[in-house]
Amino acid sequence: MKQFISVNDVTDINALVQQALVYKSNPLADRTLGADKRIGLLFLNPSLRTRLSTQVAAANLGMEAIVFNVDKEGWALEFEEGAIMSGNTVEHIKDAAPILGSYFNMLCIRTFPSLKNREDDYSELYISQFIKYCGVPVISLESATLHPLQSLTDIVTIQECLMAAPLLTKAKPKIVLTWAPHVKPLPQCVANSFAQWVNAWGGADFVITHPEDYELSTNFTNGATITHNQDEALQNADFVYVKNWSTYTDYGKIYENDPRWMLTEQKIGLTNNAKVMHCLPVRRNIELSDEVLDSPNSIVTQQAANRVWAAQAVIAAILRNNK
Ligand code: CP
Repeated sequence: MKQFISVNDVTDINALVQQALVYKSNPLADRTLGADKRIGLLFLNPSLRTRLSTQVAAANLGMEAIVFNVDKEGWALEFEEGAIMSGNTVEHIKDAAPILGSYFNMLCIRTFPSLKNREDDYSELYISQFIKYCGVPVISLESATLHPLQSLTDIVTIQECLMAAPLLTKAKPKIVLTWAPHVKPLPQCVANSFAQWVNAWGGADFVITHPEDYELSTNFTNGATITHNQDEALQNADFVYVKNWSTYTDYGKIYENDPRWMLTEQKIGLTNNAKVMHCLPVRRNIELSDEVLDSPNSIVTQQAANRVWAAQAVIAAILRNNK
């Protein structure tokens, strides 16, 4: 693997999932693979899971991880080519990225979208500029439109559940991605990325449900069944992935906040005793009720814990490619 920006960087999803599960059963299996190498974790936005799980993953491979909170501690970066830098930005990415590349063997970057201009966000300018100028392999820690480490984790977690309790009556699990209410506009990244990965994986009967006018880009959802009827979508589901996103078409808006879209225990009753997933952080009793989050159906802690093994599999694949 040369970089990890989307599912398109992965040649064999099942092999990567299996590698993550190998690391889960034996975290130090490749404890010297990254010896004498350094990985830089650059955050332009906040994080709990992504930051710490990637640090732990790197340590398990013998790599030194250094975190840089660019948003709080770095110079304000300019990403636009040819910009006349008379405003608030202090350093151009053209100047900063090669320097970062010289300090590290691998760079990981989190850059959220502005949610103001869809064309700008969906061009993935920030992460593309890092890749263009840094000269070392790049791993996305969540970009403007995608969150691939989260999505790999999600497939690992689904696969792990299926291995522990195989479905007896179905060839493929039914996976439902359902929109949930939220108090502020959120990016489409997690939903886009989950849809992209589940479609590429091909191991599921995949349904996406959301209110009218919350369609995601078909670049990611093609292959899924889409419905505005949440109850219908939930029927016989084996996994329910809960996530809010703001509108894509009329970009970055909240049109709808009907609390009836929150997943409750009553709605779990429509499913095949589904496992409930969420990338976290979650707004309790807005996106998901306490009764669901605190029930045995919820696998959100297992899912978040699996972030380490997904990150470790990805870093290891890039290390092997660059030996
Ligand atoms: N799911 C996820 O990416 O969590 P953090 O934002 O805390 O890293």
